[in-house]
This record gives sequence, C-alpha cells and structure tokens, in this order.
Amino acid sequence: MSFQLNNVVPWGRNFAEYKLMFDLSDEDLKKKIAGFGDGPASFNYEATKQGYNVTSFDPIYQFSADELRNRIDEVRTIVMEQMRENTENYVWTNIKNLDDLENRRMSAMRLFLTDYEKGKAEKRYIYHELPEKLPYENNYFDIGLSSHFLLMYTMLGFDFHISAMTEMLRVCKEIRIFPIVDLDANKSELTADVIKHFTEIYNVEIKQTKYEFQKGDNKLLVIRK
Ligand SMILES: C[S@@+](CC[C@H](N)C(=O)[O-])C[C@H]1O[C@@H](n2cnc3c(N)ncnc32)[C@H](O)[C@@H]1O
Repeated sequence: MSFQLNNVVPWGRNFAEYKLMFDLSDEDLKKKIAGFGDGPASFNYEATKQGYNVTSFDPIYQFSADELRNRIDEVRTIVMEQMRENTENYVWTNIKNLDDLENRRMSAMRLFLTDYEKGKAEKRYIYHELPEKLPYENNYFDIGLSSHFLLMYTMLGFDFHISAMTEMLRVCKEIRIFPIVDLDANKSELTADVIKHFTEIYNVEIKQTKYEFQKGDNKLLVIRK
C-alpha cells in the first residue's frame, strides 16, 4: 500500500528537545547526523543554522510544502483535543501547559515549512521509507536518530524493526532511539526482543534522559558498532 498523507499525523519537535531526548553533546553535534522519521521537526533547520551537518529522512518528504501545511492544519485541532483529554499522562514541567505545547509544536513545524523547499534542494530532507535500502555507503553517518517512530508503533512488528534498524546501522556508526516505550508509554515485548537481538551483535546501552514528557518516556536506546 502506498504511503498516504491523510494517514499521517505530522507533529514536530524542536532542536532543544532533540538535544535532550538524544543526549546530544557539543561533540556529538559536530558529527554527521541522520534523522530517520524526522517529519516536520525543526531539528534539521535549527542544526543547519548553527553550522551542523544533519540529513533528515521521511516518507512525508514526497509531498509539497503546501500539502504538508494543509495536513498540519487539519490535524492540529485533533491532536490538541486528544492531549486535552489525556493531560494526566504527561509531565508539565519543561512544557508548562497545553498552550505552551501547541505553541512549541506549531513554531517547530512553521520553521520546518519555511526551510523545507531549500532543504530539499540542498538534500537535507530526503524522501525515504524505512526499511528500504539507503543510497549511502557503510558508516557514511556517525549518528542515526529516530524520535517518536521506531519502537513506539509496535504494530509495525519485530521483522520491520530489525530490517529498519539493520539498514540504519549499515549507514551509521551508531544509532539512538527515543523513546523505547509504546504509544501509551508502556514497556513492550517488542523493545525487549529488539534489544535482545542487537545485544548479540553490537554494543547496546539504555540511558536515562533528562527529557520526559509522556510519563515513563525517559529512556534512550543507543546501539554502537
Ligand atoms: C510522530 S512523527 C515524529 C516526528 C519527529 N521525529 C519528531 O519527533 O518530532 C513520526 C514520523 O515517522 C514517519 N514515518 C512513518 N513511517 C515511516 C517509515 N517507514 N520510515 C521512516 N519514517 C516513517 C512519519 O512520516 C512521521 O513524520
């Protein structure tokens, strides 16, 4: 089945959030970074502005800025309504309240949209759907990131995750995945199985993060070759 925009809920985080979620040090940021499933996050734009080297991959990059803007406007109210019904499941310290959340997400996505066409021309936003093979040689990137995609959507299954992460680990020396819980912030069998698989091949570490928004989403998975 082809990737349909009306099945996607574009919702993007910003550079400060990526830095905390992925425990990115100043040294890490100087490396060649790939973001898988970056969607409408402003991480790439804000990192590029500071002189860093980030390439983002996502199936939504097949759509135009206008198509993405329209879809963001469509889902904004729905997502905020769902958040309003579930506020007790979130930690309101860094993000203060629902208005603060909406402002942060909308401003991240606006920054993304202003940068999108330029970034596509500069090959910083690349249309790609995991687990398809990437057009890069082994170890081309130093660090590969996945925020709020891998391990969260458990319905994608074990085989999908192993194929996707194996391809990420082919082109990246190290990958970091946040969070490692499912959509309801519960521990999953999938995460346990994926960790077991990669522990037999690579160096696997689970790190506590300073970032926690959905209660319980405060761990980062790091896999190094
Ligand atoms: C919840 S969003 C997270 C966006 C961003 N990483 C962030 O944290 O702000 C999940 C993203 O995963 C992307 N996605 C869905 N299927 C994918 C696939 N097979 N390969 C790569 N990305 C995918 C979606 O298009 C969407 O942009």
